[in-house]
Amino acid sequence: MYPGFLFLSALSFCIFLPDKLCLTRAQRSLMAAEAQAEAVGMNISFLDNHVVVSNGIVQITLSNPEGHITGIQYNGIDNLLEVTNEEINRGYWDVVWSPPGSIGTKGVLERLAGTSCEIIVATEEQVELSFSRTWDSSVEGKLVPLKIDKRYILLHGSSGFYTYAIYEHLEEWPSFNLDNTRVAFKLRKDKFHYMAMSDDRQRDMPLPDDRLPGRGEQLAYPEAVLLVNPVEPEFKGEVDDKYQYASELKDLRVHGWICSDPPVGFWQITPSNEFRVGGPIKPELNSHVGPTTLAVFVSTHYGGSDLVIKFGEGELWKKVFGPIFIYLNTVVDEEDPHTLWDDAKNQMSVEVEHWPYDFPASNDFQSAHQRGSVSGRLLVQDRFITNDDCIPAKGAYVGLAPPGDVGSWQRECKKYQFWVEADEKGYFSIPNIITGEYNLYAWVPGFIGDYRNSSIINITSSVNIDMGDLVYEPPRDGPTLWEIGFPDRSAAEFFIPDPNPKYVNKFLLHEPNRFRQYGLWDRYAELYPDGDLMYTIGESNYTQDFFFAHVLRKMDNYTYEKTTWTIKFSLYDINESETYVFRLALASAHQSDVQVRINDLNKEPIFSTGKIGGDNAIARHGIHGLYWLFNIEISGIYLYSHEENFIYLTQANNQSRFQGVMYDYIRLEGPRTFVVNKIT
Ligand SMILES: *[C@@H]1O[C@H](CO)[C@@H](O)[C@H](O)[C@H]1NC(C)=O
Ligand SMILES: *[C@@H]1O[C@H](CO)[C@@H](O)[C@H](O)[C@H]1NC(C)=O
Ligand SMILES: *[C@@H]1O[C@H](CO)[C@@H](O)[C@H](O)[C@H]1NC(C)=O
Ligand SMILES: *[C@@H]1O[C@H](CO)[C@@H](O)[C@H](O)[C@H]1NC(C)=O
Ligand SMILES: *[C@@H]1O[C@H](CO)[C@@H](O)[C@H](O)[C@H]1NC(C)=O
Ligand SMILES: *[C@@H]1O[C@H](CO)[C@@H](O)[C@H](O)[C@H]1NC(C)=O
Ligand SMILES: *[C@@H]1O[C@H](CO)[C@@H](O)[C@H](O)[C@H]1NC(C)=O
Repeated sequence: MYPGFLFLSALSFCIFLPDKLCLTRAQRSLMAAEAQAEAVGMNISFLDNHVVVSNGIVQITLSNPEGHITGIQYNGIDNLLEVTNEEINRGYWDVVWSPPGSIGTKGVLERLAGTSCEIIVATEEQVELSFSRTWDSSVEGKLVPLKIDKRYILLHGSSGFYTYAIYEHLEEWPSFNLDNTRVAFKLRKDKFHYMAMSDDRQRDMPLPDDRLPGRGEQLAYPEAVLLVNPVEPEFKGEVDDKYQYASELKDLRVHGWICSDPPVGFWQITPSNEFRVGGPIKPELNSHVGPTTLAVFVSTHYGGSDLVIKFGEGELWKKVFGPIFIYLNTVVDEEDPHTLWDDAKNQMSVEVEHWPYDFPASNDFQSAHQRGSVSGRLLVQDRFITNDDCIPAKGAYVGLAPPGDVGSWQRECKKYQFWVEADEKGYFSIPNIITGEYNLYAWVPGFIGDYRNSSIINITSSVNIDMGDLVYEPPRDGPTLWEIGFPDRSAAEFFIPDPNPKYVNKFLLHEPNRFRQYGLWDRYAELYPDGDLMYTIGESNYTQDFFFAHVLRKMDNYTYEKTTWTIKFSLYDINESETYVFRLALASAHQSDVQVRINDLNKEPIFSTGKIGGDNAIARHGIHGLYWLFNIEISGIYLYSHEENFIYLTQANNQSRFQGVMYDYIRLEGPRTFVVNKIT
């Protein structure tokens, strides 16, 4: 179709080097690649079934017309991708999808393969290729009913490449569920041994072979493996599980691998979260033993089937995922290859500053001038903490997401979301919002509940909307009689046990990563062999006496029994005619039913959540999944004055060992008129 090659001018690269790409490392890489630099020029060549694109620094090879990445050549390494894998299993976009009405989160894995390749841009500065396919009823049931357009961009002078894709569902196309979509890279296991995803999580990693039978033993589920005879003895006795390396989306902007000989870093940089789903604190996979690097756009991880995107028949939908950047770097002279992580972080900041990019050629990707912005200030008024004053919503998460109910953003997965953190004074400014209709949502660490402004915000091109002062009044009926934890949608402040010495991942022994260890759920029965957790208000300290997850009790290898936690407290001057409010905020729930009883464990619960949740955060070594808030009214007649009171929390479902909840925060409020004089 495109025989031969296109050589796009060998003009001196500095002339065409756009400002934004004048990056220290890119320039240094260029110097390191001096020999290649002489031949700098954009080059596209079409071979049998492949197209090769080069800018003199990086050369990528794509299968044609499928558009899978089969080769990445850089810094003297002929291919950074796993050459022993089949070509379709090196660098690719894929989806997991299922028929409409499917239950759960499983489906068919499909690698998205183009049927036609097109050169979209070919200049001295940029090459952009498209690999696309459409859909018709002849492939019904075989291919996901989406039109797919995968793009790859190589810029002059850039040490890496960009990829993005446009997915579209058209009129008259059948309904279906989209469970997952991502880009995956499988790197060479003989080269890439050091993984980095944050300052406190980076090290040499086990080999993929270590996970195989003989070297590894599967634990409670296939992802978790005990390394019994790894190639490198230093990993012997450790657990490996990709979920231990998950990060919250807000922290998931750069991650990848380092090869030390020759020194090469492979980094996946995500400059914006606008196209990811579930809001800023959704945990997601990133890099893991393989060596694998993922850019996950849609998934049910730590959310469950609520995060499966359900499309109706003929539902019109179009979304741009990306662009993301694959950044490659190297060191000069004898510099320590581990510094490639710091350089990758710098490059991430550069990419973030240039968002939204001005070079993607698709009209579906809105440029900066087509977008709008929203600013304002968020205040909190909680009259039992701040009197009648409003205080700044310091550090609040403020976001625009499609119009919906209060808190709906954490399950929203079809469109775009735009989140920022408010400053010390509660001011926020959300730039670069794609045109469309939104609601403004927020939540504030230190306060329960969710803010939503119900007016529709219509973002049009170049609009700059100042919302002024917005006031969030968190749920509150009366003064705090007692509380457990800190309201921030996480269970991290509670007691996190040391792992069983048999199941340690040495990578994760220290704060803030201790919750990521395998098997902490079974520590509960060891810590509380004779009875369940009892928490005494005024005596207990939640950092030590409140287990981070309300799990089942392990009886033997096959039996896990329900558990009941007790909160003991004394109150004075109970007014039997008044109502007290029990606030129960959950940071996670997995097929659980939390029942609340007061002062009599044998009576019917005064409240039950019913079966809720499917975020699987306990099994996945999370510290939260989705957030739930229950406000439970308790009539004064159930409470005793001058005597001990007991609130019993029972997690009553025990069909599988990973059922359970994590609490975020628990509070008992007195009646509106209550005068707090003496609480013990
Ligand atoms: C362009 O790439 C092709 C295929 O890799 C190669 O044969 C050719 O020499 C390259 N041309 C230039 C000017 O670098
Ligand atoms: C939003 O703005 C667009 C473009 O100006 C307009 O067509 C649309 O009707 C507006 N929607 C609302 C709810 O005002
Ligand atoms: C929602 O925003 C509008 C516009 O800034 C403002 O007038 C209104 O008071 C807000 N509503 C709430 C409930 O905060
Ligand atoms: C609870 O324990 C933590 C950690 O040991 C300590 O910092 C804190 O002061 C304690 N809180 C109270 C109320 O004693
Ligand atoms: C329970 O599982 C452990 C670990 O797999 C095993 O060593 C032990 O023999 C099992 N016990 C029973 C009673 O099956
Ligand atoms: C659930 O608990 C009941 C009674 O406590 C027990 O008989 C049953 O075996 C448990 N189920 C599982 C799957 O562990
Ligand atoms: C108890 O509450 C009722 C209803 O609010 C009120 O009328 C009454 O004065 C209260 N009793 C005391 C002793 O505060």
